[in-house]
Amino acid sequence: MKLMMLAASLRKDSCNIKLIKLAAKLLLEQGAHVDLLDFSVFDVPLYNGDTDAATGLPTGALRFIHHMDKTDGLIISSPEYNFSMPGTLKNLIDWISRGKPEQPWKGRQIYLMSASPALVGGNRGLWNTRIPLESCGAFVYPDMFSLASAYTAFKENGDLNDANLQQRLDTTLQNFINYLQKLKA
Ligand code: FNR
Repeated sequence: MKLMMLAASLRKDSCNIKLIKLAAKLLLEQGAHVDLLDFSVFDVPLYNGDTDAATGLPTGALRFIHHMDKTDGLIISSPEYNFSMPGTLKNLIDWISRGKPEQPWKGRQIYLMSASPALVGGNRGLWNTRIPLESCGAFVYPDMFSLASAYTAFKENGDLNDANLQQRLDTTLQNFINYLQKLKA
């Protein structure tokens, strides 16, 4: 099972990057193959219909599709901005959705996570993130993982201070892998 993974944050000390790194470590321990990527690799300009008509998708969006094509599922850990997803992520989703000849999001399997210093853990943003992805035909896994109080949640080694919570993350990722395996069988 091969997974594309990224955090939708460009911040050096991002708690979403910490969370996606921990998820990647747990998945590697479960025997999965992981393509852990930096969000900056998928830099795209603001969506512009004229640019789209003239030259099509920018390199960052084409690169994203290329990575998705090589994997069985996508895992995104995203910050919550004003109860929704960051504009950077929405802009990238929109560019990718203009891919041809087929809608690139159609049929993709996606697992969503979030981390936030607040007590809701960014979970409200994930409900908003589901909307464009599902409208484009992606299957967003029903379970999601949101890490609250994320600035103080990690140990030096990248594990969570709360071992029970880390176990829950491990289990939910395992469930996602099992689901992907059933789809492939
Ligand atoms: C935030 N933040 C935030 N947090 C939250 O839990 N709910 C929210 O609605 C918002 N809104 C929001 C808007 C904007 C514009 C910014 C810049 C920030 C705080 C956010 O969770 C915090 O900055 C995280 O550290 C962002 O994630 P990374 O970059 O650490 O992964």
